[in-house]
Amino acid sequence: HTPRVAVIGSANADLVVEVARRPGGGETLLGGDLALLPGGKGANQAAAAARCGANVSMVACVGTDSNGGFLLSELTAAGVNVEHVARVERPTGTAIILLTPDGENSIVVSPGANQALDVAAVEAAVMAAAAPVAEGTAASETGEASPGRAGSVWRDAQVVVLSLEIPLETALHVASEAHAAGARVVLNAAPSVQLTGDVLQLCDPLIVNEHEALEVLGASADDPDATNYARLAERLLIAGARSVVVTLGADGAIVAERGASSAAEEPLASLTAVPAYTVRAVDTTGAGDAFVGAVAGELAAGQKLADAVRFATAVSAVSVQRVGAQSSYADRTEIEAFIVERSA
Ligand code: RIB
Ligand code: NA
Repeated sequence: HTPRVAVIGSANADLVVEVARRPGGGETLLGGDLALLPGGKGANQAAAAARCGANVSMVACVGTDSNGGFLLSELTAAGVNVEHVARVERPTGTAIILLTPDGENSIVVSPGANQALDVAAVEAAVMAAAAPVAEGTAASETGEASPGRAGSVWRDAQVVVLSLEIPLETALHVASEAHAAGARVVLNAAPSVQLTGDVLQLCDPLIVNEHEALEVLGASADDPDATNYARLAERLLIAGARSVVVTLGADGAIVAERGASSAAEEPLASLTAVPAYTVRAVDTTGAGDAFVGAVAGELAAGQKLADAVRFATAVSAVSVQRVGAQSSYADRTEIEAFIVERSA
């Protein structure tokens, strides 16, 4: 049967402009034509997991504005179940993205409707999921939480994916509920925030980039281990995470997992360095989200973490070669062809 993934997270309209360089304070630059593209870390992760073949439900809030409708139709086109995406009277989350010729970007996010995804909104989505929904009626439009069969968005999911463009309290609530319900929690601590041991203990894996790794640990850039990524991964395990993936962009990723012997002083059982594919990056926006979504889909399908990460590096490598986040995600057939081509 198809692996089930639930993504609780953000959805943003990405407003992308290509510029020759980033403007300074007080400076006006002329850029290229504006592109409106579907984005937001949560929606990107959901789309990526669905394109990889998982059965994905998303819990999110978008506005009643036209961007909200646009994001819903793009998610649907990617194969994501949007029954639990509510429409609220706030502007749809928006990301202003400046894209420079090196494929790098600078992003400002206006969370808007994503901030309406509070604990009550998630609970309403879960309750709605437990009740049969009338044909042609989105659960979020009925506006009422009805008690129904014992089931919920995450009770039905093998893997629950969380990122942090939604209220932190919501993410922490879902992490503990989902874990208690027996789902595997994948937490992408982006944007970064310091996390306590009781939260880290729910993460299997915690997925962070090198900067987020430091932030989660409450460490700073002058930390002696700041560029020792294997050591940072190990410190995140010691801090409580069940497993850790540190993504390193063009340098691949490090996977750290606990062993059978969980002696506190020797928690590290295996450390796997997964290399990245060398590609020409056109736009790295959402490459990390593609990676997270792919890891979640593969884990739900029963793959081992290191194998899931290997597959996910191919998913993100394909995505950076095209413009946009969701708009650049490939389906499973294309990813598998890429892997075969690169291993020939
Ligand atoms: O991670 C990439 C995403 O971050 C973009 O799609 C943008 O919406 C911002 O949220
Ligand atoms: Na891309």
